[in-house]
Amino acid sequence: MPEKRLLYIETFGCQMNQLESELIAGRLAKDGYSLTAKKSDADLILFNTCSVREHAEERAFSHAGTVRKLKQRRPGLVVGIVGCAAQNHGEAIWDRLGFVDMVVGPRWLGAIPRLVDEVRATGGRRIATDDFDQDFIEPSHLTEARRTPFQAYVKVMEGCDLNCSFCIVPRTRGAEVSRPPDEIVEEVRRLADQGVVEVTLLGQTVNSYGKGLKPYCDLAALLQKLDAVEGLRRIRFVTSHPIFMKRRLVEAMRDLPKVCKYIHIPAQSGSDRLLKLMKRRYTRARYVDITREIYETVPGAAIQSDFIVGFPTETDEDFESSADLVREVRFQGSFVFKYSPRPGTGSVAMADDVPEEVKKERNHRLLEAQEIVSRERNREMHGRRVEILVEGPSKTEPRRQTGRTDSNQIVVFEAGRDLRGRFVTVEIGRSTPLTLFGALV
Ligand code: SAH
Ligand code: F3S
Repeated sequence: MPEKRLLYIETFGCQMNQLESELIAGRLAKDGYSLTAKKSDADLILFNTCSVREHAEERAFSHAGTVRKLKQRRPGLVVGIVGCAAQNHGEAIWDRLGFVDMVVGPRWLGAIPRLVDEVRATGGRRIATDDFDQDFIEPSHLTEARRTPFQAYVKVMEGCDLNCSFCIVPRTRGAEVSRPPDEIVEEVRRLADQGVVEVTLLGQTVNSYGKGLKPYCDLAALLQKLDAVEGLRRIRFVTSHPIFMKRRLVEAMRDLPKVCKYIHIPAQSGSDRLLKLMKRRYTRARYVDITREIYETVPGAAIQSDFIVGFPTETDEDFESSADLVREVRFQGSFVFKYSPRPGTGSVAMADDVPEEVKKERNHRLLEAQEIVSRERNREMHGRRVEILVEGPSKTEPRRQTGRTDSNQIVVFEAGRDLRGRFVTVEIGRSTPLTLFGALV
C-alpha cells in the first residue's frame, strides 16, 4: 500500500485543463494521494495553468505565489507549475517563483508521479517541457474529481496543427494527435457503466479528429460508435473549427439521437480583413454558409461563438462587422475576449495598437449585441417544453434546481427535492438572456 498523502490542485483555463487535472488526480490516487481543498494540509500542490491570455497566466502565477510561505514552513511540501504556462515560460518560472519544485508542460503530465518521486528523493528541481511526449495520460477518471458523477469530459485529440496568428496553443500543446477510436469507445463504456450519462468530447479542433489514424476514422464516425454505448444519453463535442466542418458531421448531429444539437464554432471576427490577418483560413461569407447549413439541416440547433475584439489594426468598421455577424447568425451565445499579444505567435510582430479603453468598449458592445439576440431567442422558448439533465441546486437559491437542455441552455426550475442526475421535462415560462425559467411538467 502506498503512503497516504494529500494533493491540492488548482485549475485555470479551459475544459481540457479541467479534464487534465482530473486525470492527474486520478493517476496520483494510485500513489496514495487523495484530494484536499486546503493548501495548508497538502503534501503536493499543483497549479494547472493557462497561457491563452496574459491575464490568465498572471492570475495563475499570483495564486502560485501565495504558497511561498507555506513552502518555507514545510520544506517537504512539493509544488509544481504544470500545463500551458509551464510550457510557455519553462525555466524562467524560477526567476519569479524560486520555491517551485517542478515545471511540467501539457504533454508531460503523465510523468508527474515520477517527477514528484525524484523531487522527494533528491530535493532538486525538475523540468519537463522538451520534446513533446506523444503519450496521453492514462484515462483513469476519479469519480470524486468529476464535475458531477454523471457528466465527464473525454479527450479525443490533443494539440493543434493550425496557426491562428493570435494563438499560443499550438506552441504550448504541440501538434495534433488523435486517440484511436476503440480506446475512446472503451473509456466511454466504462464511464457509462459508472453512471455517466453525458460526455463532452474535447479537442482544440475537435472536428478535425482522426488525422493520421489508421484505419481512418473521422468525428462523425466516432460519434456513430459512441451513440451505440448503452446507458449514455448525451454526447457533446468542443471546440470545432470552421474549416473542418463537413457535411457528414452536420448529418451526424441530425441523425444520431444522443448527439446534442449544439456546436461551439468560433468565428473570432466578422471582418474579412481581420480574418485574414488572424490566419483563420475562411471568409465571413463561408462562415455564414456553414452556420446556415447547420440551421437548415439540424432543426433547433444552437451555435456558440468566440470573438476577439481589439486585434491589431481593428477599426470601428471591422468591429461593426463582428456585431453584424452576431445579429446575422443569431448565436445562442458568444464569448468575447480582448486581444492579448502572446509571445511566439504570429501577431506579436504587429503593434498592439487598439487602446485598452477601446477594447473594453468593444467588448461591452459586442456582448450587448449578443444579449439582444439571446433575449429574443429565449423569448421564443416561452411556452415550450424542454428535456433537461438536472445538474443540482442553484448556487444562490437552494430550492431551485438547474439543468441544461440538449442545446446547452441553462434552465432553472423549482423542485421540492434534489433531482440531480435525472432527465426531467420543464415548461418554460420566462427568461433572461442567459437563463430559461420554467416549471416541472
Ligand atoms: N481551438 C481552441 C481555442 C483555444 S483559445 C479551443 O480548444 O477552444 C479559446 C479562445 O480564446 C479562442 O477561441 C479565442 O477567441 C480566444 N483567444 C485565443 N488567443 C487569444 C489572444 N491572444 N487574445 C485574446 N483572446 C484569445
Ligand atoms: Fe488556437 Fe486556432 Fe488552433 S485558436 S488552438 S491555433 S485552431
